Amino acid sequence: MKALLLCGGEGTRLRPFTHTQPKVLLPLAHQPILFHILDSLATTTIREVVIIIGPNGKPIVELLRKTNPWGFVFTFVDQPTPLGLAHTVLLAREALGNTPFLMYLGDNILDEPLRPLVNRFVREKPDALLLLRRVKNPRHFGVAQIDGKNVVHVEEKPVKPQSNLALVGVYLFSPAIHQAVRVISPSARGELEITDAIQQLITEGKDVNYHLFSGWWKDTGTVTDLLATNQYLLKKLTSAVDGEVKKSTVKGVLKVAQGSTLKNCRVKGPVTIGAGCRISGSTLGPYLAVGDGTEIVDCNLSHTLVFADAHLKGVTLTGSIIGERVRINGQQKMAAAHSLLVGADAILEL
Ligand code: DAU
Repeated sequence: MKALLLCGGEGTRLRPFTHTQPKVLLPLAHQPILFHILDSLATTTIREVVIIIGPNGKPIVELLRKTNPWGFVFTFVDQPTPLGLAHTVLLAREALGNTPFLMYLGDNILDEPLRPLVNRFVREKPDALLLLRRVKNPRHFGVAQIDGKNVVHVEEKPVKPQSNLALVGVYLFSPAIHQAVRVISPSARGELEITDAIQQLITEGKDVNYHLFSGWWKDTGTVTDLLATNQYLLKKLTSAVDGEVKKSTVKGVLKVAQGSTLKNCRVKGPVTIGAGCRISGSTLGPYLAVGDGTEIVDCNLSHTLVFADAHLKGVTLTGSIIGERVRINGQQKMAAAHSLLVGADAILEL
């Protein structure tokens, strides 16, 4: 089997952060979202990954050309305009060949092992195997109706959902999907919907099965989702201090990468600090992820993502995302907490 990983799209709801990097490269718990996904794919028998790249996707190609600890064979397919999930299947036709494939939406993070799912698909050979999860707000998702082991109807973001079973952004398809994506038409929102292609399979009497899971799942479409996903990933961290921690108190899990120094700090884990950071006089965590090369002095930071090479002084932040190379100069660390979303290279005097 191959994987089709969708990293196109414009990530408009995650601006300003997606102005400077593609959504899948945003770091959560000190790793790009993309790497969390590839870690999960690497647990399966899949070794070839076809990646859909949007107009701002060049950094993805550059990064994967130099970093590939999984040993995947990558093929990159350009999608100049995000014309829909089924459109990516059309574009990847040649790269996928006649092999069954697992399609993974690049903004989904889930706590469900993919290996048993892939093994089941290979063993049972349905035309599609969909991952479903019960949700409170089905109108925001593709929604499935089931009967026994079959999916009998799917609809994209229905106004009146017929069930609370959402389509999670992981699908396994036989090559039958290639015919289905060719016969559908664009939806009201102008996209070729994968949901319509799946409905086409159902209408043709093909075998569309499902796997219902109840574990953690986020479609990281908004800033709130990003922070929630960061929190979820940080909870899974284990302590590892490769840098130096001096005159500090540490409670809970702390990860410090090489070349970083923490001095006179109070840490309430989980907290992860990247490489080459200098941090002093600060209260860190819980749920703080700090990128490489960052400098933090006299701050109080919790539930926050700080991207690489930021410089923060004298600020209290919670529920914040601070872009790369941002400089914030605050008056004092005990001031009321700010919730800031600051795009790359900004300079703030608070
Ligand atoms: O997250 C699960 C949901 O994902 C499903 O329940 C829906 O049925 C499915 O349509 C999808 O809905 P979204 O509205 O969340 O899809 P979105 O447009 O956000 O695209 C998902 C990812 O795929 C995103 O990371 C960008 C990428 N993408 C999207 C489009 C439309 C592409 O690479 N190319 C595209 O043309």
